[in-house]
Amino acid sequence: MEIFYMEEWFDKAIIYQVYPKSFKDSNGDGIGDIRGIIEKVAYIKSLGVNTIWVNPMYVSPQVDNGYDVSNYFAIDESMGTMEDFEELVKVVHDHGMKIIMDFVLNHTSDQHPWFQDAKNNPHSLYRNYYLWSKGKNGSEPNNWGSFFGGSVWSRVHKNDSEYYFHLFNKHMPDLNWKNPEVQQSVTDIAKFWVAKGIDGFRLDAFIHISKADFNQDYISHEKHPLAEPYYANRSEVQSYLRYFTSELRKEKPDIYILGEASSADINLALDYSNPQSNLCDQVITFRLFADKLKNPIVNLPSEFQPVTLDVQLFKKQMAEWQANMEGICYPTLYWSNHDTARLISRYGDSDYPINSAKALATVLYLQRGVPIIYFGEELGMQNAYLDRFEQFEDQNVDDFANIALKNGISKNKILNMLNSTHKMSARNVMHWSKKDNFGFSNHDPWIGGKSTDVNVDEEDSQSDSVLNYYRELLKIKQSNLYSIGKETIDNCEDPIFSFSRSYNNYEAKVIVNLSCDSQQYQLDNEMKNGKRILSEGQLQIKNGNIQLGPWSSIIIESKEK
Ligand code: GLC
Ligand code: CA
Repeated sequence: MEIFYMEEWFDKAIIYQVYPKSFKDSNGDGIGDIRGIIEKVAYIKSLGVNTIWVNPMYVSPQVDNGYDVSNYFAIDESMGTMEDFEELVKVVHDHGMKIIMDFVLNHTSDQHPWFQDAKNNPHSLYRNYYLWSKGKNGSEPNNWGSFFGGSVWSRVHKNDSEYYFHLFNKHMPDLNWKNPEVQQSVTDIAKFWVAKGIDGFRLDAFIHISKADFNQDYISHEKHPLAEPYYANRSEVQSYLRYFTSELRKEKPDIYILGEASSADINLALDYSNPQSNLCDQVITFRLFADKLKNPIVNLPSEFQPVTLDVQLFKKQMAEWQANMEGICYPTLYWSNHDTARLISRYGDSDYPINSAKALATVLYLQRGVPIIYFGEELGMQNAYLDRFEQFEDQNVDDFANIALKNGISKNKILNMLNSTHKMSARNVMHWSKKDNFGFSNHDPWIGGKSTDVNVDEEDSQSDSVLNYYRELLKIKQSNLYSIGKETIDNCEDPIFSFSRSYNNYEAKVIVNLSCDSQQYQLDNEMKNGKRILSEGQLQIKNGNIQLGPWSSIIIESKEK
């Protein structure tokens, strides 16, 4: 049977991710807020994006910067009011853009009334909203490890016989999605926001909503190993989620469901985003990246060791994803977000920060799929430098630092490693201008750290800035050729990454040098007489032979294949 795919608005989405706490502070308390975003909607529009994703703004004790929600029906005071939110939705729509909200459905805050009621009363109506289990031999029910370090199990009181389950922080108990009441309650919350006029959701950590039986340890020598087969991508995830998504699509048929599926490989990503599954429209996976340790240090966990992009592997993976999703759904294309280091700190070239910023944007965003740009990336902003281990607020960092110190690595060196890899350093505030605190606020920002001094004001007026390059690039991205057109990735010599796009009788070739050394590329005959659409860096072209200088790129189009 042939499947006909109906075109949807989000096939051509170009997303800008706003981390509200760090974007713009309107009332001088050092915390970004909704009125700050409203002030900057026109700026966001000027980039050429058409969709804004905002990280959580619900009422939250902020143990995990808003991912610990204690009231889903209201806006956190630090962010503003419900009226501010309604105005934001209106202003974004008036600018011809869409807005999607982050939605946290795997867990709540321990301050949420459901948990507050459940925690002291085994007969509470909400007890079965969470996951409880009796300890084993005087200790936790099993050895499963939390993503934030330690066990997934905690007790409300030291002597309780039952433990509750938390995949993340112990102040974020997981919901029991097996319970139909949970499915319904969570869906009702989502409907409330759909009624406010939002256009979709980014579903936080949805792949974890099903858990295996608790009476089994994960096979490992570690004390608390990550036990993903027991709590990630289990098949029940799909049936639980289908209830949620189909209910929402009844309310709003063109709702956009962007799922965070961090560990989904291509097959799972297809299960989740194939339109026939009626689950997500697209997923964000961490599996697209191809990291190579820069200077591997044995005896040290790889998690916070600096990496570079493994071009060959990246090509292979992109090719696999593109080939499999062709005609079915679209991959999301992103380099960074609030959970990773900023692009230039991660994969950029410190000798060529501007050129590498432009080259990396070109090589990813012109591919088939939906770009997601983390705020500040369009300036070439880098991670801030945090100079105390505590500032990372991460047990895994403390463990890493202890091992590294024991191995004789200096504190400075450890901090350098952490600052080029850790998510906290990437949550630094937006650089608007040369003013104090980068024009983000007239108060010290909630998060400190030294950062590079690029800013919107200056880049706006420089024709060769990263900012203006992003604007040109995204203008190009808007056409069918670069959004929904077909893609073929070339088997060319690394570190050149080149690919073709085609749509009707248009064809384009994108060629990018992902290194600081000069490279050669030979155009084939059809492209020799093509038109140069955009290029960056040092380039020489003679008879179809292109010499590409450090981190340079070129886009050529020809009509009539
Ligand atoms: C997601 C979020 C991350 C958060 C976690 C728990 O991975 O992106 O920031 O800590 O879920 O909600
Ligand atoms: Ca504020």
